Amino acid sequence: MKGIILAGGKGTRLYPLTKITNKHLLPVGKEPMIFNPIRQLTSAGITDVLIVTSREHMGEIVNLLGSGKDFGCNFTFKVQDEPKGIADALLLGENFAGSDSVVVILGDNIATHSIKPYVDHFIAQKQGAKVLLKQVSEPHAFGIASLDEKKIIKIQEKPNKPESNYAVIGIYMYHNGVFDVIKNITVSSRGELEITSVNNVYIERQELTYDILAGQWTDAGTLESYRLANEMLFNIDNRIIDGEM
Ligand code: TTP
Repeated sequence: MKGIILAGGKGTRLYPLTKITNKHLLPVGKEPMIFNPIRQLTSAGITDVLIVTSREHMGEIVNLLGSGKDFGCNFTFKVQDEPKGIADALLLGENFAGSDSVVVILGDNIATHSIKPYVDHFIAQKQGAKVLLKQVSEPHAFGIASLDEKKIIKIQEKPNKPESNYAVIGIYMYHNGVFDVIKNITVSSRGELEITSVNNVYIERQELTYDILAGQWTDAGTLESYRLANEMLFNIDNRIIDGEM
């Protein structure tokens, strides 16, 4: 199992904080934002980690992170020339993944509790993909999952009439076939290769399982959620809490 952190994008919703720096370098609690997803991966025993970021900010990211030895892991870096979507960024990980499965974390997703239990479930899952879910109070703003006991049946993007309040968060697990799936999806109306299109392929195949993440989670992509992320991590001194709650 290998890890991929996607830390490209434009970060426009955090302007002017992100005008000259990359969102994932901003402080959250007492550390740069990207440390949380790195710690998530290492807490699950994943030490081979690819970091994808933009051309403008690769220098700063490498300066900050180095080889990985400070985290007890091994980093590989890859440039996404243009922010053409989350699935486009993930496709850059094809050679890195080789024949392994991958855990993919969006670099602005902040969580208090370790993903290890869910990674362990996924290791026992022989094919397909898994997404992590979290209950949210404003389902209209998220990709919302309709569920049966084990699988996701449908994902509604920012629905007017949400069928649940379980949001699909930015932590995904894929068996190796995901790169072929990405090569067969088409660009969306906003000009991006969407991760939702990838996940919809797994829904059609009835191969998209889920777990519900314990503890607190937020993305840190808006000023409001960035502030919440700070509060969350200050409260736990930027540690990752073990196990399911
Ligand atoms: P978004 O928050 O959807 O996009 P963004 O980071 O560009 O921010 P904004 O909408 O405010 O302009 O991205 C979610 C995560 O995915 C973020 O951590 C960066 C990553 N990402 C990439 O690595 N490459 C991409 O092409 C995109 C769109 C996002």
